[in-house]
This record gives sequence, C-alpha cells and structure tokens, in this order.
Amino acid sequence: MTADELKKQVAEAALRYVEPRLERDTVLGIGTGSTVNHFIAALGDLRDNIDAAVSSSEESSRRLKELGISVIDLNTAGSVDFYVDGADEANRHLQLIKGGGGALTREKIIAAVAKEFICIADESKLVPVLGKFPLPVEVIPMARSHVARKISSMGGVPVWRDGFVTDNGNHILDIHKLDLLDPRTMEAQLDQVAGVVCNGLFVRRAADRLLLAGAQGVRTLLPGA
Ligand code: A5P
Repeated sequence: MTADELKKQVAEAALRYVEPRLERDTVLGIGTGSTVNHFIAALGDLRDNIDAAVSSSEESSRRLKELGISVIDLNTAGSVDFYVDGADEANRHLQLIKGGGGALTREKIIAAVAKEFICIADESKLVPVLGKFPLPVEVIPMARSHVARKISSMGGVPVWRDGFVTDNGNHILDIHKLDLLDPRTMEAQLDQVAGVVCNGLFVRRAADRLLLAGAQGVRTLLPGA
C-alpha cells in the first residue's frame, strides 16, 4: 500500500469513529495536511449531519467550503466537539510534533478548545522519541534572528523556511537536532522566547486518540495504553 493509500485509510477510519457520535449541533475541528485532506474529502457525504466546522488553515477552509460545509470562526463556535488532524511525529504518549504544513498555531488553538483530539497518521509517524522531524516554530518576522540565536544557544539548529509565510503573516523556523527527551519542558521553554508565537510540540495538549494506518490495517492508541 502506498503512503497516500494509508492516509486515506486512516482518514476513513476517523470518519467511522466520528460519524455515529455526530449530533445536531456538533462542531468539528479540522486540521491541515495531506492526511486531513482525505478526511475532508470523505466528510462531503456527511455535510447534512454537520452543523459547522472550524478550520486550522485557509487551505482546509477552502476545501470544506467547496464541499458545502459551513466554516465558522472559533469565537463564534465556542466549543469544538472533535478535532481531527494529522501529525509529523507521534510517540506512545500521543505527544506530537506538528507544523510541517505551517499551520501549527491555529492547530494548537483548536486542539486546546477541542473536547476530543483525534490524531490520524500512517505508521511511519510513530517514533520512540520525538525529534527526528525538525521542530517547526512560528515566529514574528522581526524576531526571526533573535529567536534563531536563542534556539542555537539551547542546542538546536534553526533553519528559516525561506519564502513561506503562515496564514497569520509570520515566519517559520525549522529546528534540527534539538534534544526532545523532555518534550514537556522544551515546549514550555520555547514558549518563553520573545518573538515565538507557537512551537510545534503538542505535549501540554497531546492527542486523546491516535489512529495509525499500517499494512495490517488501522490501530488505535490511547494514552496510558
Ligand atoms: C500542518 O501544519 C501539520 O501539523 C500537519 O498536521 C502535519 O504536517 C501532517 O501533515 P501530513 O498529513 O501532510 O503528513
């Protein structure tokens, strides 16, 4: 099975999990990326059962609207029942690295609001220790060099994602070689650097359910299991 087929398989499994739990006023949170794009495509059949969606990027909003799904502002939504999103890396504690697509800040906000965060990925994303994937950090443009120096002093190697501007008008630094043996502490430390908007560690708010697609099908990981 190709990587894309695995992504489609796990997206469909997420839909099967969510569908029987949909109620008249359910608000769905929708993430960003190639895995979630399969989820969005499958969601089209359920458009009449969904009250509204909140989305973590302009790209996902565009895809949802194309299918006739109403996309509302998070301030209007108030609460989000399920948040479905992919990840760049996940560990067995359901802690994640996200932001490969640059949508990490809105993703972290929706995850914080969501009652249940369902992460969907193919099995290659499961790692024993986070950190092989360079950690995305969204920065205010004028602070880019300052943040890069601070992160270098913390042992990381920051690389500017040159030419990329986030939906919030900011820049991304991809941090290589950062020691993430204690990802909870690192998430908090990075948040302390002036000019950092958000970092791609999802540890304070990890996923509640991780669906992983592999050659044997889709399996579910829960925290503490
Ligand atoms: C977007 O900013 C990311 O957090 C994505 O969720 C992550 O990069 C996974 O993307 P794919 O589903 O394309 O692998």
